[in-house]
Amino acid sequence: MLNQKMVDALNGQMSNEFYSAYLYLSMSAASAAMGLKGAANWFMVQYQEEMVHFMKFYNYVLSQGGAVTLAAVKAPPSAFKSLLDMFEQTLKHEQFITKCINELSDLALKEKDHATAVLLQWYVTEQVEEEANDNDVLARLRLVGKDGNGLFMLDKDLATRIFTPPPATAAGGAPAA
Ligand code: FEO
Repeated sequence: MLNQKMVDALNGQMSNEFYSAYLYLSMSAASAAMGLKGAANWFMVQYQEEMVHFMKFYNYVLSQGGAVTLAAVKAPPSAFKSLLDMFEQTLKHEQFITKCINELSDLALKEKDHATAVLLQWYVTEQVEEEANDNDVLARLRLVGKDGNGLFMLDKDLATRIFTPPPATAAGGAPAA
């Protein structure tokens, strides 16, 4: 059972996850416009992952009898200087999300809400992976610098990223039966 404080905090994080999806969709479009098809794919996969993060909270709140309250989502930026700029903004945004997840975990422990604390452990692990992925691409982008061939090769690599849908469970992609 969720208390109202926890429901409100989880609804707030749902907005953050939805905004993340929106941000990466915008970056996917900007990458495509730059002729970077691989980067467009990478950000499209990231958009799909963010929707999974959103739905996981959504299904959890519903399954625990809480009210899902959807808030307005602000418009993401649509103009970016370069792919490096996009990945720098991505890492900064993910560091913010990590801070939000940590604060939610603190709240769950303070409220003695162990079920939510367990759910949030999944997000803690996910954030470690997300920041590692961003740091990896950023490091390679900095190595490449202004070398067009290097960027071409990196873009080819970003094209190989694949979205893996989560298993359909109450806490995953599909609503509980
Ligand atoms: Fe859902 Fe990228 O954090």
